[in-house]
Amino acid sequence: MSGDEMKKRAAEAALEYVEDDTVVGVGTGSTVNYFIEALARIKHRIEGAVSSSEATTQRLKACKIPVLDLNAAGPLPLYVDGADEANRQLQLIKGGGGALTREKIVAAASERFVCIADQSKLVDVLGAFPLPVEVIPMARSHVGRALLNRGGQPVLRENFVTDNGNLILDVYNLQILEPAKLEAELNNIAGIVAVGLFALRPADVLLLGTVDGVRTMRL
Ligand code: A5P
Repeated sequence: MSGDEMKKRAAEAALEYVEDDTVVGVGTGSTVNYFIEALARIKHRIEGAVSSSEATTQRLKACKIPVLDLNAAGPLPLYVDGADEANRQLQLIKGGGGALTREKIVAAASERFVCIADQSKLVDVLGAFPLPVEVIPMARSHVGRALLNRGGQPVLRENFVTDNGNLILDVYNLQILEPAKLEAELNNIAGIVAVGLFALRPADVLLLGTVDGVRTMRL
């Protein structure tokens, strides 16, 4: 079974968490794209969606799912999003697609965060996937030095500007043993907009698509 089929399984399973007449927070990425396809089938049952990126907004609109402003629609009962890595405490690395800041905002404004992923995303220790950090352009070098001081190897994501007009530093060589502590520390560096660690607000449910079906992990 391919990774895509496992992503699709997880995405389909997330439909069970969608309640009628509610607004759904929708993340970004290839796994979420399967969720959007599934959501389109039940769009008559929901009020609409809050989007975490321009890419997701386009896909939602193409499926004729109303896209609502978080300021008007929040707080939300449910946020569904993928991950680049997840540990057994349901702490995540996200931002491979560069949408981490808006993803973090919608996750923070949602009562329940259901993460959907294929089995390859589950790890013992976060950090093999380079940690995305969104940075205000003028702070790029300052933030880069601060990350080097913490033992990471920051690499500027080439030819990439976020939906918010900022840059991404992908930080290699971090073995993240205390994700919540590192997230709080990095949040305090001037010029960092958001860190792709979702540990202070982890997922509540992880739906993992596997060859044997969908494995549900909860906190
Ligand atoms: C987008 O910025 C990311 O946080 C995605 O949620 C993450 O990269 C997972 O993407 P895939 O579902 O494509 O693996």
